[in-house]
Amino acid sequence: MSAPPKTVLHATEEEAEAIRQAVRTVDVSALGPGRERADLHHVPGLVALLSDERVSGPIYDLPRPITEESITRWVAENQAQMLSGDALLIVNLDDIGQVAGYSRISVWPERSSAEIAGAIRADLQNMGQGGTGMIRSFSWIFEALGVRLMCLTAALDNVRSQKGIDAAGFRRMGEREAVRPDGTTRRSVYWEMTRDEWRARHTL
Ligand SMILES: CC(C)(COP(=O)(O)OP(=O)(O)OC[C@H]1O[C@@H](n2cnc3c(N)ncnc32)[C@H](O)[C@@H]1OP(=O)(O)O)[C@@H](O)C(=O)NCCC(=O)NCCS
Repeated sequence: MSAPPKTVLHATEEEAEAIRQAVRTVDVSALGPGRERADLHHVPGLVALLSDERVSGPIYDLPRPITEESITRWVAENQAQMLSGDALLIVNLDDIGQVAGYSRISVWPERSSAEIAGAIRADLQNMGQGGTGMIRSFSWIFEALGVRLMCLTAALDNVRSQKGIDAAGFRRMGEREAVRPDGTTRRSVYWEMTRDEWRARHTL
């Protein structure tokens, strides 16, 4: 399951509540065309997307196996977490309304921290969308959700993710045992970046 950053920040009550409120209410369409908060009517599209190992294989925190039932439960759990301000599950729809990608943002408001995982459909991979999407998403998480710290993990052999995350300027901080929902673990590269570091690198 997604785990908060190694670095521990403490948010004030006001800061934590502002982050929760942003998670509940923020307009996700600012992330790009076709972005929507996941809803139960997206379940068939998500099952089709995530049934492809080229899409879901590298992601440790998805329910397994991928079935109509497991994804229905996952979307419902995420909807509850969106209401409590602790997570955002966002689908990316293509121009004919099919689910072409997703992002799940875990948020720890009391630690002013967040993590993101996501994937794009296999036919859209390797065309530069992932790299640009990562930069847009990281920026949006810092600025629209208001967290001060992000962490990320990627499988040791996930070269594409590692390249995108390094290119965005995240700091490698060793490795981490990512825990899957079934309790098994996966060794991962681990990164962090603060909002101040992000702003210094991307807005000056
Ligand atoms: C990871 C993912 C989001 C990357 O998006 P993408 O659009 O496919 O990747 P990009 O085209 O932006 O390429 C990213 C980088 O990897 C490089 N790359 C691609 N395939 C590579 C390979 N086999 N070996 C080395 N580098 C490779 C690209 O050249 C690019 O580097 P550059 O920016 O220096 O040119 C996407 O592939 C995906 O959804 N994968 C499955 C799920 C996943 O791994 N999610 C992330 C979990 S942390």
